[in-house]
Amino acid sequence: MAAAKLLLTDFAFTVNHVPSNYIRPISDRPNLADVQTSDASIPVIDLQGLYGPNHSVIVHQIGQACQEYACQEYGFLQVKNHGVPEAMINNMVNLAREFFRLPESERLKNFSDDPSKANRLSTSFNVKTEKVANWRDFLRLHCLPLEDHVLEWPSNPPSFRKVVAEYCTRVRGLTLRLLEAISESLGLKRDHIDKTLSKHGQHMALNYYPPCPQPELTYGLPGHTDPNLITILLQDDVPGLQVLINGKWVAVNPIPNTFIINIGDQMQVISNDRYKSVLHRAVVNCEKERTSIPTFYCPSPDALIGPAEELIDDEHPAVYRNFTYADYYKKFWNRGLATECCLDMFKASNS
Ligand code: OGA
Ligand code: NI
Repeated sequence: MAAAKLLLTDFAFTVNHVPSNYIRPISDRPNLADVQTSDASIPVIDLQGLYGPNHSVIVHQIGQACQEYACQEYGFLQVKNHGVPEAMINNMVNLAREFFRLPESERLKNFSDDPSKANRLSTSFNVKTEKVANWRDFLRLHCLPLEDHVLEWPSNPPSFRKVVAEYCTRVRGLTLRLLEAISESLGLKRDHIDKTLSKHGQHMALNYYPPCPQPELTYGLPGHTDPNLITILLQDDVPGLQVLINGKWVAVNPIPNTFIINIGDQMQVISNDRYKSVLHRAVVNCEKERTSIPTFYCPSPDALIGPAEELIDDEHPAVYRNFTYADYYKKFWNRGLATECCLDMFKASNS
């Protein structure tokens, strides 16, 4: 038998069949013909006037997009005029592509299959626990505080650290604005969520999905919810992200210069289930490589997470018990990506 491949990228370009360890059981395949492609299904919110006279209108729009309304379950929104310069976005996407095009020997300097390692290159999701592999390589980075991590980031391409540091600083600014707006939309103090997170954490992934000869048989990432607080996703111009809305998978086609924002499990907890951490997945295609760059904003590991007291009353009892983010995160990585939400393990009672 050939030696197991550590990374997918170069290997993917040499095969004309999906190797058996990537093939999903028939009951768990993407059924791409059933996916809806309605561009209007995920709200696009213009953040231009967030600090002007339209403040409360925009806060309201954000709140609506985070919850169920008009019989639609969202938990996903897109934002434009978000304050991250277009050039910075383009630099980031180009850099990610450049990184995955480096010779494999160069990329492998960053390899680790240990999920507890902060900054590492790996493949699939968690190669130590999963039964079926995913058609993805990824570089995972911690970004906060920057100076604790930058020296562990790749140094090749030579501009890597500078470009990523600039990008994640700007994205952090956007995230803090969104967290204020979301707090407000829940009727909480503006700084409620900010304060709940203790020291805050910011992680990032550079996801690389090589072209796949049989995209019907496998996933880039199977359906999952994000375990963190809120995710700010940048995708290149190749479609692949899909969101489960009313039981149907809907493609979120790329809009230039727009970020996709999704509510993560911790936001669902803090909001006491008012806001939803929605299932989403990444599918692959046979023609084009695809790059996506999610920023995962999260509580620090020691932060105590639980429903906001202001959102608990007789009609809305606490749905979740309090827990530390470290507890949650460990459970998430150990159980693997699964459509049953990890949140169920943190419910207030077993009712
Ligand atoms: C993720 C994710 C979607 C994508 O990394 O958690 O959902 O389009 N990525 O790559
Ligand atoms: Ni995700």
